[in-house]
Amino acid sequence: MKKLVILTGAGISAESGISTFRDTGGLWEQYAIEDVATLNAWIKDKALVTDFYNQRRKQLLQVEPNYGHRGLVELEKQFQVSIITQNVDNLHERAGSSSILHLHGELTKVRSEKYENLVYELTPDKYEVKIGDLCEKGYQLRPHIVWFGEAVPMMEQAIQITEQADILVIIGTSLNVYPAAGLLYYIRTEAPVYLIDPNDVSVSRGNVHLIKKGASEGVKELIKLLQIQS
Ligand code: OAD
Repeated sequence: MKKLVILTGAGISAESGISTFRDTGGLWEQYAIEDVATLNAWIKDKALVTDFYNQRRKQLLQVEPNYGHRGLVELEKQFQVSIITQNVDNLHERAGSSSILHLHGELTKVRSEKYENLVYELTPDKYEVKIGDLCEKGYQLRPHIVWFGEAVPMMEQAIQITEQADILVIIGTSLNVYPAAGLLYYIRTEAPVYLIDPNDVSVSRGNVHLIKKGASEGVKELIKLLQIQS
C-alpha cells in the first residue's frame, strides 16, 4: 500500500464550528498569543491560561467531526494513512482515523508543570482543570499543549513519517508556524503534493496540486482524484 501522509491545521475543523487562528474573526484576533499561549503567560497568570483552555475543551465537547475528518478514514481502505495534525482537538480520533500524531499537543490531556512525562487524560465529565489540581508529585497541572517558544517533541517523528510519504496532502493550514511548516522540506521531490484550502496559501515547493475548497468538499475531490490515479 502507498504511504499517504496528511498534514492538517485548524481549517479542517472550521466546518465543525471551531474557529481557525489567523482568518478574520479567528482566535488570535480575540486573544493575544502572549496572554494565553506562551510559557510566560502561564507563569504570569495560570488562572487565565487554565480558563482559556477550559473554554476550548468545553467547545470541543459541543462539536462533531465533519466530512473533512471522516473522508480521511475512507482513504485507509486504499492507502497507509498517517495524519500529522497541528490541531489540539480530537476530531480526527473521533472520526476514526488510526494513525494520528499531534504536533502541538492535545486539549484532552494535561500534564505536570514540572515533570513533563506525567501526562493525564481528561474525561468529558471532568474536562475542567482548576488551580490546585496537582500531579501525583504535587505540582500544578498545565495544558498538554506546545506553546509558542516551546520545543516540539513530536517533530523528529513527524519528519521521519514525512520522509517516507509517497503522497503528501496538506489541509487547512496557513503554513505560518514553524517547525510544523518546515515538514514540507522533507518530502521527496517526486512525491505529489495536494493542498486543500479555500484561500491562497503560499507553499515553498513547486508542483503542488491545489484544491481550492473547504475541507469537506476538498476531501471529496481528493478521494476522486486519488482513485483515478492509483
Ligand atoms: P491558521 O488559522 O493559521 O490557518 C488556517 C487555515 O485554514 C487558513 O489557511 C485558512 O484559509 C484555512 N481554512 C479556513 N476555512 C477552511 C475550511 N473550511 N476548510 C479548509 N481550510 C480552511 O491555522 P494553522 O495553520 O492550523 O498552534 O495554525 C498553526 C498553529 O498556529 C496552530 O496549531 C496553533 C496556532 O497558533 C498552537 O496553538 C501552538
